[in-house]
Amino acid sequence: MTTIVTYGTFDLFHVGHVRLLKRLKALGDRLVVGLSSDEFNEVKGKQVVIPYEDRREILLACRYVDAVFEENCWDQKRGDLIREHADIFAIGDDWAGKFDELEDIAKVIYLPRTKDISTTELKTVLSYLNKEKVVEIKNVVNNLTSLVEHL
Ligand code: CTP
Repeated sequence: MTTIVTYGTFDLFHVGHVRLLKRLKALGDRLVVGLSSDEFNEVKGKQVVIPYEDRREILLACRYVDAVFEENCWDQKRGDLIREHADIFAIGDDWAGKFDELEDIAKVIYLPRTKDISTTELKTVLSYLNKEKVVEIKNVVNNLTSLVEHL
């Protein structure tokens, strides 16, 4: 039984997440995800859209994920890997080199990210949509105002 442990926020679950989880699971038999809590995301400077319990439910509904535990701080990884009997610690290569010190207890692997998709990018697109909507509403109000003025 080969156990793989990974970490992340997995907010606004997208295809980059699915592809990563698929490749992680293919490294062994059991994939365990350390899912960042809402509070820990604040520490990391990230504001999540989807709360922890919902992100957890979504991850557990993914066929590649076997278990989820909570990530609350930067320095819990060593203890987690020992508790989970991890053979492999793997994560996207935006973290390349950052966790090499765990090599003494597990194989550390950085996988290439899927291009052109991220939660940050999705949040940006959504905020543009909001701005477009505001412009649309302002136009309607202006049209109504001029209509009333001409009554
Ligand atoms: N990931 C990936 N390909 C992407 C986006 C994310 O392989 N296009 C991986 C990350 O490298 C990480 C895991 O998915 O191992 C969880 O990443 P997370 O930070 O939750 O997702 P992002 O979309 O990168 O979110 P953000 O933009 O907020 O950093």
